[in-house]
Amino acid sequence: MSKPRITVIGAGLMGHGIAQVFALAGHDVTIYDSFANTLATAKDRILANLKFLGDDEAAVHRVTLEPDLGAAVRDADYVVEAVLEDLALKQKLFAEIEDLARPDAILASNTSVIPITSIMQNLKRRERALGTHWWNPPYLVPLVEVIETEWTSAETLAFAMKLHADVGKKPAHVKKDVPGFIGNRLQHALWREAISLVENGICDAETVDAVVKASFGRRLAVLGPLENADMVGTDLTLAIHNNVLPAIEHRPGPSPYLEQLVQSGKLGFKSGEGFRTWTPAQQTALRNRVLQHLRTARDEET
Ligand SMILES: NC(=O)c1ccc[n+]([C@@H]2O[C@H](COP(=O)([O-])OP(=O)(O)OC[C@H]3O[C@@H](n4cnc5c(N)ncnc54)[C@H](O)[C@@H]3O)[C@@H](O)[C@H]2O)c1
Repeated sequence: MSKPRITVIGAGLMGHGIAQVFALAGHDVTIYDSFANTLATAKDRILANLKFLGDDEAAVHRVTLEPDLGAAVRDADYVVEAVLEDLALKQKLFAEIEDLARPDAILASNTSVIPITSIMQNLKRRERALGTHWWNPPYLVPLVEVIETEWTSAETLAFAMKLHADVGKKPAHVKKDVPGFIGNRLQHALWREAISLVENGICDAETVDAVVKASFGRRLAVLGPLENADMVGTDLTLAIHNNVLPAIEHRPGPSPYLEQLVQSGKLGFKSGEGFRTWTPAQQTALRNRVLQHLRTARDEET
Protein backbone atom coordinates (compact mmCIF):
# COMPACT_ATOMS: atom_id res chain seq x y z
CA MET A 1 0.00 0.00 0.00
CA SER A 2 1.28 3.50 -0.76
CA LYS A 3 1.52 5.91 2.15
CA PRO A 4 -1.92 6.44 3.71
CA ARG A 5 -3.58 9.75 2.87
CA ILE A 6 -4.01 11.80 6.02
CA THR A 7 -6.63 14.39 6.90
CA VAL A 8 -6.18 16.58 9.97
CA ILE A 9 -9.29 18.29 11.35
CA GLY A 10 -8.29 21.51 13.14
CA ALA A 11 -5.37 23.72 12.12
CA GLY A 12 -4.49 25.05 15.58
CA LEU A 13 -1.45 24.45 17.77
CA MET A 14 -1.64 20.64 17.59
CA GLY A 15 -3.31 20.19 14.20
CA HIS A 16 -0.74 22.05 12.12
CA GLY A 17 2.10 20.29 13.96
CA ILE A 18 0.59 16.83 13.43
CA ALA A 19 0.10 17.63 9.73
CA GLN A 20 3.75 18.70 9.56
CA VAL A 21 5.00 15.36 10.92
CA PHE A 22 3.00 13.34 8.39
CA ALA A 23 3.97 15.61 5.48
CA LEU A 24 7.66 15.48 6.40
CA ALA A 25 7.43 11.67 6.36
CA GLY A 26 6.09 11.77 2.78
CA HIS A 27 2.33 11.56 3.31
CA ASP A 28 -0.15 13.69 1.40
CA VAL A 29 -1.95 15.67 4.09
CA THR A 30 -5.17 17.65 3.92
CA ILE A 31 -6.03 20.10 6.69
CA TYR A 32 -9.56 21.30 7.44
CA ASP A 33 -10.53 24.04 9.88
CA SER A 34 -13.87 25.83 10.18
CA PHE A 35 -12.10 29.15 10.82
CA ALA A 36 -10.88 30.51 7.48
CA ASN A 37 -8.13 32.68 9.00
CA THR A 38 -6.62 29.82 11.00
CA LEU A 39 -6.72 27.52 8.00
CA ALA A 40 -5.14 30.15 5.75
CA THR A 41 -2.02 30.48 7.93
CA ALA A 42 -1.43 26.75 8.52
CA LYS A 43 1.12 26.28 5.74
CA ASP A 44 3.04 29.41 6.78
CA ARG A 45 3.28 28.08 10.33
CA ILE A 46 4.43 24.66 9.11
CA LEU A 47 7.07 26.25 6.88
CA ALA A 48 8.35 28.39 9.75
CA ASN A 49 8.68 25.26 11.93
CA LEU A 50 10.49 23.34 9.17
CA LYS A 51 12.93 26.25 8.77
CA PHE A 52 13.53 26.49 12.53
CA LEU A 53 14.23 22.75 12.72
CA GLY A 54 16.35 22.57 9.57
CA ASP A 55 13.91 20.02 8.09
CA ASP A 56 13.05 19.59 4.40
CA GLU A 57 11.01 22.69 3.54
CA ALA A 58 9.54 20.97 0.46
CA ALA A 59 7.36 18.94 2.84
CA VAL A 60 4.98 21.87 3.02
CA HIS A 61 4.02 21.24 -0.62
CA ARG A 62 2.46 17.92 0.40
CA VAL A 63 -0.05 19.83 2.54
CA THR A 64 -3.41 20.89 1.08
CA LEU A 65 -5.74 23.31 2.84
CA GLU A 66 -9.43 22.45 2.39
CA PRO A 67 -12.29 24.62 3.70
CA ASP A 68 -14.96 22.00 2.90
CA LEU A 69 -15.25 19.08 5.35
CA GLY A 70 -16.65 16.65 2.76
CA ALA A 71 -13.85 17.33 0.29
CA ALA A 72 -11.30 17.13 3.11
CA VAL A 73 -12.22 13.62 4.29
CA ARG A 74 -13.66 11.97 1.13
CA ASP A 75 -10.44 10.24 0.02
CA ALA A 76 -8.69 9.98 3.40
CA ASP A 77 -7.32 6.68 4.69
CA TYR A 78 -6.87 8.23 8.12
CA VAL A 79 -8.61 11.19 9.77
CA VAL A 80 -7.23 12.70 12.97
CA GLU A 81 -9.23 15.33 14.82
CA ALA A 82 -7.55 18.16 16.79
CA VAL A 83 -10.30 20.73 17.36
CA LEU A 84 -11.18 22.43 20.66
CA GLU A 85 -11.43 20.24 23.77
CA ASP A 86 -15.25 20.10 23.68
CA LEU A 87 -17.10 16.77 23.80
CA ALA A 88 -20.26 17.94 22.00
CA LEU A 89 -18.20 19.53 19.22
CA LYS A 90 -16.08 16.39 18.74
CA GLN A 91 -19.15 14.11 18.73
CA LYS A 92 -20.89 16.29 16.15
CA LEU A 93 -17.81 16.42 13.95
CA PHE A 94 -17.27 12.65 13.99
CA ALA A 95 -20.97 12.07 13.13
CA GLU A 96 -20.47 14.30 10.07
CA ILE A 97 -17.11 12.76 9.19
CA GLU A 98 -18.55 9.25 9.35
CA ASP A 99 -21.16 10.19 6.75
CA LEU A 100 -18.62 11.90 4.49
CA ALA A 101 -15.55 9.64 4.74
CA ARG A 102 -14.98 6.18 3.29
CA PRO A 103 -16.43 3.38 5.45
CA ASP A 104 -12.95 1.91 5.91
CA ALA A 105 -11.21 5.17 6.87
CA ILE A 106 -9.65 5.04 10.34
CA LEU A 107 -10.85 7.84 12.67
CA ALA A 108 -8.80 9.21 15.57
CA SER A 109 -9.18 11.93 18.20
CA ASN A 110 -6.26 13.83 19.71
CA THR A 111 -8.24 14.77 22.84
CA SER A 112 -6.14 15.52 25.93
CA VAL A 113 -8.48 14.09 28.54
CA ILE A 114 -11.97 13.35 27.18
CA PRO A 115 -12.58 9.58 27.13
CA ILE A 116 -12.34 8.27 23.57
CA THR A 117 -15.34 6.08 24.39
CA SER A 118 -17.50 9.19 24.97
CA ILE A 119 -16.37 10.82 21.75
CA MET A 120 -16.87 7.75 19.55
CA GLN A 121 -19.88 6.06 21.22
CA ASN A 122 -22.44 7.24 18.65
CA LEU A 123 -20.53 6.13 15.55
CA LYS A 124 -22.09 3.39 13.44
CA ARG A 125 -18.70 1.70 12.90
CA ARG A 126 -16.91 2.15 16.21
CA GLU A 127 -14.36 -0.55 15.44
CA ARG A 128 -12.42 1.83 13.17
CA ALA A 129 -12.11 4.56 15.83
CA LEU A 130 -9.49 5.19 18.52
CA GLY A 131 -7.53 7.89 20.33
CA THR A 132 -4.08 9.18 19.40
CA HIS A 133 -2.72 11.55 22.03
CA TRP A 134 0.20 13.63 20.73
CA TRP A 135 2.26 15.95 22.90
CA ASN A 136 3.15 19.56 22.22
CA PRO A 137 4.98 20.38 20.03
CA PRO A 138 4.06 17.34 17.92
CA TYR A 139 7.20 17.63 15.77
CA LEU A 140 9.55 17.54 18.78
CA VAL A 141 7.98 15.29 21.42
CA PRO A 142 8.27 11.66 20.27
CA LEU A 143 5.37 10.06 22.17
CA VAL A 144 1.93 9.35 20.71
CA GLU A 145 -0.38 7.43 23.04
CA VAL A 146 -2.61 5.14 20.97
CA ILE A 147 -5.79 4.46 22.95
CA GLU A 148 -8.16 1.64 22.17
CA THR A 149 -11.77 1.51 23.27
CA GLU A 150 -13.72 -1.68 23.92
CA TRP A 151 -14.86 -1.49 20.27
CA THR A 152 -11.54 -0.76 18.50
CA SER A 153 -10.57 -3.62 16.17
CA ALA A 154 -7.15 -5.24 16.23
CA GLU A 155 -6.63 -4.06 12.61
CA THR A 156 -7.38 -0.44 13.53
CA LEU A 157 -5.00 -0.56 16.47
CA ALA A 158 -2.24 -2.19 14.39
CA PHE A 159 -2.71 0.40 11.63
CA ALA A 160 -2.34 3.31 14.07
CA MET A 161 0.67 1.80 15.86
CA LYS A 162 2.48 1.23 12.55
CA LEU A 163 1.47 4.58 11.06
CA HIS A 164 3.00 6.51 13.95
CA ALA A 165 6.11 4.34 14.18
CA ASP A 166 6.65 4.78 10.43
CA VAL A 167 6.66 8.58 10.74
CA GLY A 168 9.30 8.41 13.49
CA LYS A 169 7.07 8.75 16.55
CA LYS A 170 7.13 6.45 19.58
CA PRO A 171 3.60 5.03 19.78
CA ALA A 172 2.53 3.66 23.16
CA HIS A 173 -0.43 1.29 23.31
CA VAL A 174 -2.98 2.27 25.96
CA LYS A 175 -5.08 -0.84 26.48
CA LYS A 176 -7.88 0.80 28.49
CA ASP A 177 -9.55 4.13 27.86
CA VAL A 178 -8.89 5.66 31.31
CA PRO A 179 -8.85 9.43 32.08
CA GLY A 180 -5.41 10.90 31.43
CA PHE A 181 -4.26 7.77 29.56
CA ILE A 182 -0.66 7.07 30.75
CA GLY A 183 1.46 10.20 30.39
CA ASN A 184 -0.91 12.69 31.98
CA ARG A 185 -1.74 10.36 34.87
CA LEU A 186 1.96 10.15 35.72
CA GLN A 187 2.56 13.84 35.14
CA HIS A 188 -0.33 14.98 37.30
CA ALA A 189 0.48 12.56 40.11
CA LEU A 190 3.77 14.49 40.33
CA TRP A 191 2.07 17.88 40.06
CA ARG A 192 -0.35 16.99 42.89
CA GLU A 193 2.57 16.35 45.25
CA ALA A 194 4.47 19.41 43.96
CA ILE A 195 1.53 21.66 44.82
CA SER A 196 1.07 19.95 48.17
CA LEU A 197 4.71 20.60 49.16
CA VAL A 198 4.16 24.34 48.59
CA GLU A 199 0.70 24.33 50.17
CA ASN A 200 2.11 22.73 53.33
CA GLY A 201 5.04 25.15 53.62
CA ILE A 202 7.74 22.53 53.03
CA CYS A 203 9.35 24.68 50.33
CA ASP A 204 8.44 27.35 47.80
CA ALA A 205 7.48 26.77 44.16
CA GLU A 206 10.90 27.72 42.84
CA THR A 207 12.52 25.12 45.10
CA VAL A 208 10.16 22.36 43.93
CA ASP A 209 11.15 23.01 40.33
CA ALA A 210 14.86 23.32 41.19
CA VAL A 211 14.80 19.97 43.04
CA VAL A 212 13.14 18.16 40.13
CA LYS A 213 15.40 19.68 37.47
CA ALA A 214 18.61 19.04 39.45
CA SER A 215 17.81 15.45 40.47
CA PHE A 216 15.56 12.78 39.00
CA GLY A 217 14.47 15.13 36.21
CA ARG A 218 18.00 14.84 34.82
CA ARG A 219 17.68 11.08 34.56
CA LEU A 220 14.07 10.76 33.46
CA ALA A 221 14.71 10.91 29.72
CA VAL A 222 16.93 7.82 29.94
CA LEU A 223 15.67 6.08 33.10
CA GLY A 224 11.96 5.40 33.49
CA PRO A 225 10.48 5.00 36.99
CA LEU A 226 10.13 1.24 36.81
CA GLU A 227 13.60 0.78 35.33
CA ASN A 228 14.77 2.89 38.26
CA ALA A 229 12.83 0.73 40.74
CA ASP A 230 14.45 -2.40 39.34
CA MET A 231 17.86 -0.74 39.40
CA VAL A 232 17.64 0.12 43.12
CA GLY A 233 15.73 -3.09 43.89
CA THR A 234 12.06 -3.81 44.44
CA ASP A 235 12.85 -4.51 48.12
CA LEU A 236 14.25 -1.01 48.60
CA THR A 237 11.31 0.42 46.64
CA LEU A 238 8.91 -1.36 49.00
CA ALA A 239 10.77 -0.09 52.08
CA ILE A 240 10.61 3.49 50.75
CA HIS A 241 6.91 3.14 49.92
CA ASN A 242 6.14 1.84 53.42
CA ASN A 243 7.65 5.03 54.85
CA VAL A 244 6.76 7.67 52.27
CA LEU A 245 3.41 6.75 50.70
CA PRO A 246 1.34 7.36 53.87
CA ALA A 247 2.78 10.91 53.96
CA ILE A 248 2.27 11.75 50.30
CA GLU A 249 -0.72 13.82 49.19
CA HIS A 250 -3.62 11.54 48.32
CA ARG A 251 -6.71 13.74 48.30
CA PRO A 252 -8.95 12.75 45.39
CA GLY A 253 -9.70 16.26 44.06
CA PRO A 254 -7.66 19.33 43.13
CA SER A 255 -5.74 21.25 45.79
CA PRO A 256 -7.58 24.16 47.53
CA TYR A 257 -4.32 26.11 47.08
CA LEU A 258 -4.64 25.68 43.29
CA GLU A 259 -8.33 26.57 43.37
CA GLN A 260 -7.48 29.75 45.31
CA LEU A 261 -4.86 30.77 42.73
CA VAL A 262 -7.43 30.40 39.94
CA GLN A 263 -10.18 32.22 41.88
CA SER A 264 -7.85 35.17 42.56
CA GLY A 265 -6.92 35.48 38.88
CA LYS A 266 -3.37 34.16 39.32
CA LEU A 267 -3.47 32.11 36.12
CA GLY A 268 0.27 31.74 35.44
CA PHE A 269 1.92 33.16 32.31
CA LYS A 270 -1.33 34.59 30.98
CA SER A 271 -1.80 36.88 34.01
CA GLY A 272 1.89 37.26 34.92
CA GLU A 273 1.52 35.34 38.20
CA GLY A 274 0.65 31.77 39.21
CA PHE A 275 2.76 29.74 41.61
CA ARG A 276 5.47 32.32 40.79
CA THR A 277 5.56 35.72 39.08
CA TRP A 278 6.60 35.94 35.43
CA THR A 279 7.69 38.96 33.41
CA PRO A 280 7.14 38.72 29.62
CA ALA A 281 10.92 38.36 29.19
CA GLN A 282 11.07 35.47 31.67
CA GLN A 283 8.18 33.75 29.90
CA THR A 284 9.88 34.02 26.51
CA ALA A 285 13.19 32.82 27.95
CA LEU A 286 11.60 29.72 29.49
CA ARG A 287 9.61 28.89 26.33
CA ASN A 288 12.77 29.20 24.23
CA ARG A 289 14.74 27.09 26.68
CA VAL A 290 12.22 24.26 26.45
CA LEU A 291 12.10 24.44 22.65
CA GLN A 292 15.89 24.46 22.39
CA HIS A 293 16.18 21.53 24.81
CA LEU A 294 13.64 19.47 22.82
CA ARG A 295 15.31 20.32 19.53
CA THR A 296 18.73 19.27 20.84
CA ALA A 297 17.26 16.01 22.17
CA ARG A 298 15.66 15.28 18.80
CA ASP A 299 18.84 16.12 16.87
CA GLU A 300 20.93 13.90 19.14
CA GLU A 301 18.53 11.01 18.59
CA THR A 302 18.64 11.18 14.78
N1 LIG B 1 -2.14 22.12 23.32
C1 LIG B 1 -1.63 20.98 23.79
O1 LIG B 1 -0.57 20.95 24.42
C2 LIG B 1 -2.34 19.67 23.53
C3 LIG B 1 -1.65 18.46 23.70
C4 LIG B 1 -2.31 17.25 23.41
C5 LIG B 1 -3.63 17.28 22.99
N2 LIG B 1 -4.28 18.47 22.83
C6 LIG B 1 -5.68 18.43 22.35
O2 LIG B 1 -5.68 18.69 20.95
C7 LIG B 1 -6.89 19.35 20.58
C8 LIG B 1 -6.54 20.68 19.91
O3 LIG B 1 -5.81 21.47 20.83
P1 LIG B 1 -4.98 22.74 20.35
O4 LIG B 1 -4.09 23.11 21.48
O5 LIG B 1 -4.42 22.50 19.01
O6 LIG B 1 -6.15 23.84 20.24
P2 LIG B 1 -6.21 25.13 19.32
O7 LIG B 1 -7.21 26.04 19.97
O8 LIG B 1 -4.85 25.66 19.03
O9 LIG B 1 -6.81 24.59 17.94
C9 LIG B 1 -8.12 24.14 17.82
C10 LIG B 1 -8.55 24.40 16.38
O10 LIG B 1 -9.86 23.87 16.19
C11 LIG B 1 -10.50 24.70 15.26
N3 LIG B 1 -11.95 24.46 15.32
C12 LIG B 1 -12.83 24.87 16.23
N4 LIG B 1 -14.07 24.41 15.91
C13 LIG B 1 -13.92 23.68 14.77
C14 LIG B 1 -14.82 22.96 13.93
N5 LIG B 1 -16.14 22.88 14.22
N6 LIG B 1 -14.33 22.34 12.84
C15 LIG B 1 -13.02 22.42 12.55
N7 LIG B 1 -12.12 23.08 13.29
C16 LIG B 1 -12.57 23.72 14.39
C17 LIG B 1 -10.08 26.10 15.67
O11 LIG B 1 -10.28 27.03 14.61
C18 LIG B 1 -8.62 25.87 16.01
O12 LIG B 1 -7.80 26.12 14.88
C19 LIG B 1 -7.70 19.51 21.86
O13 LIG B 1 -8.58 18.43 21.99
C20 LIG B 1 -6.61 19.46 22.93
O14 LIG B 1 -7.12 19.09 24.19
C21 LIG B 1 -3.67 19.65 23.07
